[in-house]
Amino acid sequence: MGVVGLGYVGLPFALEAAQAGFQVLGIERNPVRVEKVNRGENYVDDIRDEDLRAVVESGHLRAQADFTGAEELDVIVIAVPTPLDKNLVPDLRYVRHVTEALSEHLRKGQLVSLESTTYPGTTEEVMQPILERSGLKADEDFYLAHSPERVDPGNKRWKTKNTAKVVGGVGPNSLEVAKAFYEQIIETVVPVSSARAAELVKVYENTFRAVNIALVNELALLCDRMGLNVWEVLDAAFTKPFGIMPFYPGPGVGGHCIPLDPHYLEWKAREYNFRTRFIGLAGEINRSMPHFVREKAWRILNEMGKAPSRAKILVLGLAYKGDISDWRESPAIKVIKLLQQDGADVRYHDPYIPVFREEGLDLASVPLTDGLLQEVDLVIITTAHSNVDYERVVRLARRVLDTKNATKKVPGREGKVVLL
Ligand SMILES: NC(=O)c1ccc[n+]([C@@H]2O[C@H](COP(=O)([O-])OP(=O)(O)OC[C@H]3O[C@@H](n4cnc5c(N)ncnc54)[C@H](O)[C@@H]3O)[C@@H](O)[C@H]2O)c1
Repeated sequence: MGVVGLGYVGLPFALEAAQAGFQVLGIERNPVRVEKVNRGENYVDDIRDEDLRAVVESGHLRAQADFTGAEELDVIVIAVPTPLDKNLVPDLRYVRHVTEALSEHLRKGQLVSLESTTYPGTTEEVMQPILERSGLKADEDFYLAHSPERVDPGNKRWKTKNTAKVVGGVGPNSLEVAKAFYEQIIETVVPVSSARAAELVKVYENTFRAVNIALVNELALLCDRMGLNVWEVLDAAFTKPFGIMPFYPGPGVGGHCIPLDPHYLEWKAREYNFRTRFIGLAGEINRSMPHFVREKAWRILNEMGKAPSRAKILVLGLAYKGDISDWRESPAIKVIKLLQQDGADVRYHDPYIPVFREEGLDLASVPLTDGLLQEVDLVIITTAHSNVDYERVVRLARRVLDTKNATKKVPGREGKVVLL
């Protein structure tokens, strides 16, 4: 079998398939990743280095940069990026490119399964016509399905293998073949009646998170006005054993999924003359949070008699969530940029991201020395990495703006720490 795109989704899946006994060919356009895989070198947080090495050494996994020999594969799983453009419009160029390349290698009996998150209709409306240019018919000559990936980076309990996998085909034969395939690798497979339904399942799941995060973020904004501690309110609310589910506020939402995927659905809904109001509103609130962090930083600096343009600020955490190195769409980047616009001297520390030369920034993680913590005017905690000593941060820093309640267990933080 083949996995196209060996990223956060594709590589863990390729590993699971190899461990289940499949001969796996990874097709990855980034030559650095291809070389790494072939040397058995891991570059994804959720995979154990020795597991990857073992399947490469046993010959169950190898990678290449093109589609040569793809006709020999029985199954091709696609896990390439599905970004949005600047106007929040789905950018399907990677899916299209891969599908076009595959159509030249398509043969009878093959299963093609798209795992990238996308709007309902992509598999049927975009991929199927391209693949049928080969002269083969979907659901008759070859099988086409959508099976969204649900990986939660950094989650130690729920991994690719034990997270139930939804599958939908463009027809009944495709569903049957896809189900038979995934059942060999994943513990629980959940069939749905169409590829479109499977696509909607995934974007709904991400929309659910985006909306609930926006709701607690809005509560945080209100609590700020009311002079209430939102964290106290939430901790108490989540003691209710039913009818509620924990979500916490923060400096915004990040990662490749939550800030982007709901807008795939929003865009598609327009075709049906339907406005997905919750999605628009959630995006608006979540995207406003870095601005609120900046405003809170201003207030603290003002109390200290410091102009933002003269302030030295340490942003603690660049990754979009704790204990991982993924910085995509991270709100910390936005916070850094806003404070830089104010003229502040902004540095960052992130144990998982030693250098950051992306998104117009060129920064290196500064060591978290006692001297640094004492030198800066303000520390802003933007990611709650568990390997940071927050007790020491609070003890040495002049002031701390904690957007994640990472200092919750630090005794005597009052007076020094301002919460979101
Ligand atoms: N990261 C997550 O937590 C997560 C979770 C669930 C679903 N998803 C979805 O899965 C998809 C992939 O996400 P990801 O995080 O793995 O992305 P990623 O950027 O980590 O990996 C994608 C890989 O595809 C490769 N690629 C791009 N174009 C290619 C081409 N034409 N041929 C071969 N390889 C190509 C890239 O070089 C990259 O290595 C996206 O649709 C995403 O929304 C991601």
